[in-house]
Amino acid sequence: MASKIELLWKQALKCFTGCQIPGYVFSSKNFEKLTNLMNEITAEDVSVNKNMLDFVKAQPAPMCAIDVFENQDITIAVFILKSGMTLPMHNHPEMHGLLKVINGVVKINSYTFETQDDEKTLELGRTISVTKHAPVTVRSTDPACVLTPILKNIHEITCLEGPAAFLDVLSPPYDILGKYGEKSRLCTYFKVLQDDGTTDKVQLEVTNVPLDFYSHSIMYLGKPLS
Ligand SMILES: [Fe+2]
Repeated sequence: MASKIELLWKQALKCFTGCQIPGYVFSSKNFEKLTNLMNEITAEDVSVNKNMLDFVKAQPAPMCAIDVFENQDITIAVFILKSGMTLPMHNHPEMHGLLKVINGVVKINSYTFETQDDEKTLELGRTISVTKHAPVTVRSTDPACVLTPILKNIHEITCLEGPAAFLDVLSPPYDILGKYGEKSRLCTYFKVLQDDGTTDKVQLEVTNVPLDFYSHSIMYLGKPLS
């Protein structure tokens, strides 16, 4: 019998295979099925155990990352954030994303671009107008969080109770070298420029990759997906 992570992987492939090829049609029904499978995933399903969480606490990096699967259409990975650490504010260009907390508690601040054209010209120092969504506190008993190419495409994630582990399914993958498509798909970082708290309209500024935030790679201990 297929494991829960195998079922999730197969559904992610069904939903996103060919997503960078002209003629691909996104199916909300397939995405909904994927979200439902994501909601069921636990730490055990991706072999995140106490030893691993203890290791994350003891090592120096603010975050550890486990690559579960990647091809030209999807990335499946687990991220484990140490207590008090914040994964800096970043975007997911033209991507869909699902995030399922499987251990600990996180706070997520999400933002939506006011103008879709803004996301295409994100040179350093540029000011971007966004809508800020109400922060959410998410734990392993909560359903997966969803972002789309338009909605909540920018977020920052803070570990309130850690280590906090979450499973990510992203499509298409980030692609620094342009190996999966005609052009690269980069992660851009932001900081809040202006937020007086009186409105959900906020200004962000495009920043450099934060130098004080880095990630340590851990091997996936589950059965390889292939
Ligand atoms: Fe993200």
